[in-house]
Amino acid sequence: MQVQALPINDRAVKINEAVERVVNRVVRGRDAWLQSLGLGGRAAAYDDVNYEFIGGPADAMRRKLYDKSLRLLWKAEVAAPWSSFRDSNPHERELTDLAERSLTDGERAARARITSAEFRALLDREYTLEQKRAVVGVLSAIGHGEAYAWLVSASLLTRVQSTGARAALTMQVLEEAKHFVVMRELVQAFGVEVPRQSAWEYLLLEGTLKAEGLDRFFGMNVMVESIALSIFGMLSTLPGLEVLRLFHLDESRHTALPVAYFNEFPMSRRERASVRGRVRRLKMVLPTLPLVMLIEPHLAVLGVDAFDFAGSVMRKVATLSTRAGFIDKPTAAMQGEVFERIFNAYCGLTRDKHEWRRFLDAETTQGEVELEVERRAFGDAAAPAIA
Ligand SMILES: [Fe+2]
Ligand SMILES: [Fe+2]
Repeated sequence: MQVQALPINDRAVKINEAVERVVNRVVRGRDAWLQSLGLGGRAAAYDDVNYEFIGGPADAMRRKLYDKSLRLLWKAEVAAPWSSFRDSNPHERELTDLAERSLTDGERAARARITSAEFRALLDREYTLEQKRAVVGVLSAIGHGEAYAWLVSASLLTRVQSTGARAALTMQVLEEAKHFVVMRELVQAFGVEVPRQSAWEYLLLEGTLKAEGLDRFFGMNVMVESIALSIFGMLSTLPGLEVLRLFHLDESRHTALPVAYFNEFPMSRRERASVRGRVRRLKMVLPTLPLVMLIEPHLAVLGVDAFDFAGSVMRKVATLSTRAGFIDKPTAAMQGEVFERIFNAYCGLTRDKHEWRRFLDAETTQGEVELEVERRAFGDAAAPAIA
């Protein structure tokens, strides 16, 4: 590189550097002192000496969650061509056009980019009014959850340690924003009234947003996202809902986040054994029970047993909770049995000729791809009934 350097005043440089050193000592000394007294101090958990956030690089987590998210990043314009989104770049548009050109006429017709009006016509053709209301009832419930997922992940971004964890959370914030705005258009395309949050969702989601620190990981990434993942896995094979496959894939990554985080930064033994912590988290789970009872009619219209759905969610939640260290295996198994009894007791009261069943062994995820994603994410906890 050829540059003609300009002259500088050496004396001024030395004075400026000396002044900076003094101010640096004062500023950092004051903040360290305030921090030791618990009165504040430096706001950013940032280690500029090592060019790293406090907690270190956590590169494994960055690779597993940030890099992978970017690899799998999808655009609404390509995945949901009927939507109003124009988020793909010219290169992506060109690739889609090329892919479409290599198809046969029949394939092209099936894959044709459909307009919003055509998409609405497809929904009118494929669904009865009752089925539309059922899909919207279930999808809007999780749509409201996406709003909270966006808020909770953004709030956790300032709480986690390490560069890798922050990079991972940043991708979650981006993906939840996308889920929320795309889901709104999808739900609105059905053209039926969109219900407000139920009281149970309100309690579940507000409880999660207000939870103490990393308990939010439990409420959101373990509990709410397992519900979301299971809903997407259940509905993605229905007409017009193919885009939910991509939501499903994103959520499977989000459910893995607390496990990856606590692998790097394990909870202390005291935190793990804390009875108060377990009671707090159990209280966060409780609104899901009446929520399942409330959405049972919607799921029934779609041919899904609400308690099969609840059982499969609970099994996944138990797996993630034990892996992350929120609960030990025997307690999780005991809680599972309690839920099993409650489900069966309720069905015994409300259903004709109900026979005791193991709802926790059920699987309501439909698509082969989605089942494979869940098998990878949950291991033994995914689809045990399927060979
Ligand atoms: Fe989401
Ligand atoms: Fe998510």
